[in-house]
Order: sequence, then structure tokens, then C-alpha cells
Amino acid sequence: MSEEKRDVYNPILFECAWEVANKVGGIYTVIKTKVPVTVSEYGDRYCLIGPLSYKTAPMEVEAQEPTDPALAATLDNMKAKGVKCLYGRWLIEGAPQVLLFDTGSQYSRLDEWKGDLWNLAGIPSPPHDHETNETIVFGYLVAWFLGEYVSRQLHTAVVAHFHEWQAGLAIPLCRKRHIDVTTVFTTHATLLGRYLCAGSVDFYNNLQYFDVDHEAGKRGIYHRYCIERSAAHCADVFTTVSHITAYESEHLLKRKPDGVLPNGLNVVKFQAMHEFQNLHSTSKAKINEFVKGHFYGHYDFDLDNTLYMFTAGRYEYRNKGVDMFIESLARLNYRLQKAQSNVTVVAFIIMPAATHSYTIEALKGQAVTKQLRDTVTEVQNRIGARLFDHAARFHGENKVDPTPEELLSPEDQVLLKRRIFALKRNSLPPIVTHNMADDSGDPILGQIRRVKLFNASSDRVKVVFHPDFLNSNNPILGLDYEEFVRGCHLGVFPSYYEPWGYTPAECTVMGIPSITTNLSGFGCFMQDLIERPQDEGCYIIDRRMQSVEDSVNQLTESMYTFCNKTRRQRINQRNRVERLSPLLDWKNLGIEYSKARQLALRRAYPDAFYAGNGLDGEEAEAEFDFASGIERMAPHSIPASPRFRPSGMATPGDLGTLTEEMKALDTSDYRGQGGYNWAGSREDEEDG
Ligand code: UDP
Ligand code: G6P
Ligand code: GLC
Repeated sequence: MSEEKRDVYNPILFECAWEVANKVGGIYTVIKTKVPVTVSEYGDRYCLIGPLSYKTAPMEVEAQEPTDPALAATLDNMKAKGVKCLYGRWLIEGAPQVLLFDTGSQYSRLDEWKGDLWNLAGIPSPPHDHETNETIVFGYLVAWFLGEYVSRQLHTAVVAHFHEWQAGLAIPLCRKRHIDVTTVFTTHATLLGRYLCAGSVDFYNNLQYFDVDHEAGKRGIYHRYCIERSAAHCADVFTTVSHITAYESEHLLKRKPDGVLPNGLNVVKFQAMHEFQNLHSTSKAKINEFVKGHFYGHYDFDLDNTLYMFTAGRYEYRNKGVDMFIESLARLNYRLQKAQSNVTVVAFIIMPAATHSYTIEALKGQAVTKQLRDTVTEVQNRIGARLFDHAARFHGENKVDPTPEELLSPEDQVLLKRRIFALKRNSLPPIVTHNMADDSGDPILGQIRRVKLFNASSDRVKVVFHPDFLNSNNPILGLDYEEFVRGCHLGVFPSYYEPWGYTPAECTVMGIPSITTNLSGFGCFMQDLIERPQDEGCYIIDRRMQSVEDSVNQLTESMYTFCNKTRRQRINQRNRVERLSPLLDWKNLGIEYSKARQLALRRAYPDAFYAGNGLDGEEAEAEFDFASGIERMAPHSIPASPRFRPSGMATPGDLGTLTEEMKALDTSDYRGQGGYNWAGSREDEEDG
């Protein structure tokens, strides 16, 4: 550390993630939606760092010249050594400063850096792992940048916050090189957890017992695991997004997180649209149009009695619970048929997979219904013109009503017939909208075939698999993801491995009920805060304490109950679920990030905080009250209707857990267990 005293009260913050201005999955949502609260705390002392993707950056970032002289000098020096980067404003709400490094510009140094990584940290790096190579180059660039920056800027403390292993390599580098910054590492999953769960392992009952090095080696990810583990261990403060992942991290990464930083959303964006019920209606109308086209020739169900359910996310078949969703849909189909229900469910699966564009059949469906619609409009116009002509010419006593033939001419009738005949179809409406690269080996299609959900007329549950993220420019399902969610009735996310799970959280703030599980960070979070979440439109399936069979039945039952709700009940439920939004607002949850940064500063610069009070660093840290100095949300801003758990969860300061006391607690104190003791499970079983 430098001799000069850095100002720890107005620090500079660099936040570094692979998904800065680069959308992959949920981490992009964390970073992007959190920007407004972070900018309001840090202003121009905040800068995001990410990789430079030439595909997306030009649309997301406006280039600028840096005004901070230390930053400008650092970048000039790096550029002189061949580093390509883009500095500017990320064009999102809050318009934060952003610095993107082109990893490609430094591949010439890859071997040198790999050697250094081995010598410095004992981390191996095999030759052909592109993701690891990117991680290494990016990590070395960020450490280079931070090292130069703090050597030029000596008066202000710097907090460097890193997300996930792909951005975390700079942490051990900063530590080994004694770079004068304080670091926070937030993990959004563990590599091993994701891999182990995707296989067929009884993950949660064995967490304490995995031989981590061996398991990582077996899966060919030992080197990645080393990077992740060293980031977790070298960071001044280590955090994660939920208690379930904190528990997992403690056992798989061998460091207990200092606290949990739950993921929020920028709720302002949604609250500005007061009429979210109307938005549901207008978005649903767009989905209706798609459905009419997709099911042409078999469009024999009443859209007024049709419910739209969906699941969405990165394609992780088992982790995201798609296996369970499809199985439950088959059982729901059976129950609706048996009950002779007049309800139809259209279940959408939105998960990107390798494809060769849209199928002819899917495009044709939209084309023939468009033709029919255009023809009806033309005929309608001609009928109107004839009617007008007739009314204008025959008036007064000579009035004669036009005959139907005069209004609908034989030519128009022929035209209409042609359009109607074009709707005839010999095959069932397709399940998948795209030509799959691996149709026969695709797990989702395989499961749909196994349960025989083929969109027959007798099926009360129809399935549409859209193997791509949504976009309003799509020719088939032309809606943005947000619009699509609003138009649906129920989101279904029965995840097995889900550190947080933004998709159900987004449903909540948009006022759309959703189903999740007690193995997702979000599900546990809601279960912790709300007495009876299912009454608020937040259904949580137990995948922890019961058999798979029972979980599937519980999921089927929840969907079936939902199908039996009246429109009025659905409207009420949307109102109730939307009222939970403040629980997920960054304005309340952002405080946990502030606490993490505070703790990092106190750990790195104890003298600046505690000099003169007679305490050593550790004692002083334990004295620190994280709640002080940061305004808590008034309890009354939490909606009145949900009955919050009586366990003192009233203010957002309590939502997360970044407190020093946590260090003294053991694993059994993790929250979000829904009454279940994670750590005690194995012993209980053994006792049994
Ligand atoms: N998402 C999207 N378009 C889609 C489907 C999903 O942008 O068509 C987004 C969604 O809004 C969410 C993210 O993808 O923010 C998925 O995040 P989540 O935390 O649920 O899962 P992850 O992919 O990070 O495991
Ligand atoms: C919103 C609209 C209502 C509409 C309803 C349909 O609440 O404001 O006008 O009737 O959505 O709800 P449903 O659950 O049937 O799609
Ligand atoms: C990860 C997790 C997901 C979480 C997201 C943001 O990608 O898979 O559950 O919501 O990060 O924290």
C-alpha cells in the first residue's frame, strides 16, 4: 500500500464483468439495472469495465475522451503498447462511464501471461480453452489498467468490484502485485455447482462431501475452477447472490461469503407504466395474433379461454427445470382433458439453441393468416364503398336495401374461399419454430416426443418451442421479451440449479404470476419474506424435501389450479403480485452493495477508519455497524397486502445479510431454507 493517505470516504469504483454492454444472461441484467442506484451514489467516480465486443458495443456505447487525467494517461500508455479499447458512455439509464478492452488486441501476450499465471498463482491453463484464454487476457488487461491507474492517482481509494470467474482473474493478480485497490468478488454461481447439477448428481445432499479438485478435473474444468477459487480467496470481500449459493460457495470454493447481495431490478422503469393491466391486454393481443397464425387449420379453440404459460432462459435443460416443466404439462393436459375443461393452455419455451433459421411451416402459418387478414380488409373496404354508394344514390322515398349479393360480390366470395382453402393443412401445428441443428438429439424435443404433446386438436395443452431469444423484429413471434412476458398469464421456472433466477423476479415486477422452486435464490428470498407467497401469485415448488414425482405433481397441481381461476381472480392476482415490486427494487437492495464496498474499504484501510480508537483492525471491523450512514427504506413503502414473515424482516437493510456477525455464525444460519436446515440435512438423514 502507498504511503500517501487515500480518501476512503469518496472512493472511486470500478465494476468489472464479462457482461458489461455484452448480453449473455442474468449478469447483464444485474449490471444494467443496478446502474442508476450506483450512479446516484458515485456519479462520475463510477466506471464499468468489460470486454469489447465489436458486434454489440457500437450500438451500446458512445465513445468519449476521458476527463480524469489519471485515466487518460493510463489509457494512452496502454494504447501505445498496442491495447485496443473503447472508453465512453454506456447508453442505458444512468449513462455510466464504461471502459471496454479488446482482448483480441493482446493475444500476442497470451503465452507470456499464461506462464506468469503459473509462476505467480500456480494456475495451469491448457492450450485450447477459448473461454479461459479470454479470461486470462481480460484479467491481465484489467490488472494492468488498475495497477497503472492507482500509481497515477494517489489521493483517492479505489474499490474494484468483480463479478463471476470470467472477470475475476484480476483479483489474484492485484493481490500478488500489491496493487493499492480494495477488491470485492461476487459470484453468481459456482462452476462446479453448475456442472454437477447438469449431470445426475444428488447435489444438495452431498455438497459437503464432494472432492472438489477431483470433480473439477473429471469435468475438464480444473483450471477454470482454480481461477474461480483464487478470485474468491484473494478478494478482500467475497459475496454471492443468495443464501443457497452462499452455502454452495462455502463448500465448493472453500470460502464462506462475507454476505449475500440479492439481485434487484430497476423498478422505476415498470412503475412508470401505471396501466400494467392494460399492457397485459395489448401484449396478449399480439400473442393472440401469433397463435392464430401458428395454429392455422387447427385453430379450433377459444382465445378468450386460452392461457399463455411460458419458461425462458439460457438453454440449461435440467438446471432450468425444463424436464419437469414438460412432464407437468403432459399431466396438466391429461387433467384438463379428463375434467372436460374448456380452457386451452399454450405453453411457450423460449430457450436459444443452435438452429438454421425458421421453419417454412412456421413462416407459412403467419403468411397465410396475414393474407386472409389483408383479403378481409380489402373485401371490407369494397363492401363499405358499395354501401356508401348505395346510400348516397338511393335516398328518400325511392330507398331500396342492397341485397347481400350486391354487397359481397361473387368475385369477393371466390377470393375469400381461396384464402380459406389455403388454411387447410394435413399436418399438426409445429412444436418448434426453427430448424434445429440437432433435431433428433435435442433434449427438449426428445422430452416433448416422449410425453406425446403434439398439438393435436384434442390436446388442451399446446406447446411452442422458440429456440431463440425474443426480439420485436422477429418475423414470427415479433415481440420484445418484456412485451411477451406482459402478455402471458403465468411464468413457470422449476429450476434445479438457480443461484438467483431473474426470470420469475421480472414477472413479479411486471405483475405476472410465476412459479419457481425452493432451489432458486429468488424462490428462497420470497419464501423468506412472505408468509404465504402462493397467495400473492408467487408459487414456490418444493424440490428440496420431496421426491421428483411429488414435485412434478405439485407443479401440475399449481398450474391446474391456475387454469381454474376466473378472469377476475387472475386480474386480482396480477395486482397482488405487482405490489411485491418494492421488495425487488435496487433502491432498497442496492444498500447491500454499498455495505460490501464499505467492508472492503475498512479491510484494506483500517487505519483510515479506526486509527486512534484503540482497536485493532479485526476488533474495529466487528464494531462496524453496516446499517449506519445509509438511509433505510421506510417500512411503509412496502405494500400492505402481503403478510411478511414475522421474523423481523421489515426493512431492506435486513433483506441481505452483510453483517460482521455472520462470520461468527455457522452454515446452519443460512436463510432461505423454507424451514429446512441445509447444513443439518445429512446428519438428519444419517440419524434416520
Ligand atoms: N431474457 C431475455 N430474452 C429472452 C429470455 C430471457 O433477455 O427471450 C433475459 C431475462 O430477461 C433475464 C435473463 O435473460 O434477465 C436470464 O437471467 P436469469 O437470471 O434468469 O438466468 P441466467 O441466464 O443468468 O442463468
Ligand atoms: C387486463 C385488462 C382487462 C382484461 C384483462 C384480461 O386486466 O385491463 O381489460 O379483461 O386484462 O385478463 P386475462 O387474464 O383474461 O388475460
Ligand atoms: C447466473 C445465475 C442466475 C442469476 C444470474 C444473475 O447466471 O445462473 O440464477 O440470476 O447469474 O445473478
